Amino acid sequence: MSESSLFSPVYLGDQHLENRIALPPLTRSRANPDGTATALMREYYAQRSGAGLVIAEGTVVSPQASAYANVPGLFNKEQVMAWRPVVEAAKRDGNAVYCQLWHVGRQSHSSVQPDGQPPFGPSAIPIKGFTYRSTDGRIPYETPRELTQDGIHEIVQAFGSAAANARDAGFDGVELHAANGYLIEQFLDDGINQRTDEYGGSLENRLRFLFEVLNAVIKHIPANRVGIRFSPSSDWMDAIDSDKRTLFSTVIQRLNSYSLAYLHLVEPGISGATNSSQAPDATPTKELASLFNGTVIATGGHTKESAEELISSGVVDLVGFGRKFIANPDLPERFRQNAPLAELAPHGLYSGGEHGYTDYPALDSCPS
Ligand code: PHB
Repeated sequence: MSESSLFSPVYLGDQHLENRIALPPLTRSRANPDGTATALMREYYAQRSGAGLVIAEGTVVSPQASAYANVPGLFNKEQVMAWRPVVEAAKRDGNAVYCQLWHVGRQSHSSVQPDGQPPFGPSAIPIKGFTYRSTDGRIPYETPRELTQDGIHEIVQAFGSAAANARDAGFDGVELHAANGYLIEQFLDDGINQRTDEYGGSLENRLRFLFEVLNAVIKHIPANRVGIRFSPSSDWMDAIDSDKRTLFSTVIQRLNSYSLAYLHLVEPGISGATNSSQAPDATPTKELASLFNGTVIATGGHTKESAEELISSGVVDLVGFGRKFIANPDLPERFRQNAPLAELAPHGLYSGGEHGYTDYPALDSCPS
């Protein structure tokens, strides 16, 4: 028997998980061009089904919500049907499978917008310090179109419908992507949201979109099957706010009245998909986690040992391992056996077929 705190069972909402290891949402761009999930995705998730919690990759709630080719969606029947076998493959007795619901807002580009026009954001403010990953390489971001209130209401409804679709596809729950400078965070941050209507200005107003989305989602899925992800210490994609500590402390405390499945925090020092030096004003996970009256997941740069320490000291309940899980499909088993971990290869992270996706071997298939 392993004595690792990673292998002590835990409840997530009403679900009993056999371990505290999470597969966090990872964009891998292996869906069909129409956003339907593929047989290759089924194999990838089946390989990683040992995680107590599988959070499937960012899945767009509408055609306008996407930034990249080959990202899955959940806005039509074909996408629901295509997800079903994938979700089934990711499920085992004693694990939970959630879907991350995603709208990228201003991080999209006219080249992938259905009408060929620049993407939508809360305000007409472009991302300046970063470039867009187009199929032809890196290019500048465009000035987004400012959303009208009708546009905002449509997106809120799209999140609700996508949650209903996630349920119909067999997912146990959904995670709202409110991290990494995507649309929900774009409304939260005062450096991005400069609206003068009830969706901008005061903190109260900047929180409005998030809570409208959450309320739309819980019309279709019980709140204890809904999680939410923030990256409170990251300014990736110009996610700038004048007082992130107050912002995220306020949001997290306000979420307490919902009895959500979980709060998912990206650790300070993570910038999008990579490490960065920790900002001097980073808010420690411990501080924010202590404000939440429920299950907390932390993800970002953890080792088995640092994760065990974080769980046994009671700071968080589960830990996500992104890059380690890409390279080690049987990561929980390797942790259980204290087996060596394979290194992440640079190829195939965001495109391609099985190479760098489903061809990382499991322990029992490794040559000894
Ligand atoms: C990415 O595609 O690089 C990406 C996607 C979603 C995130 C972060 C990074 O939350």
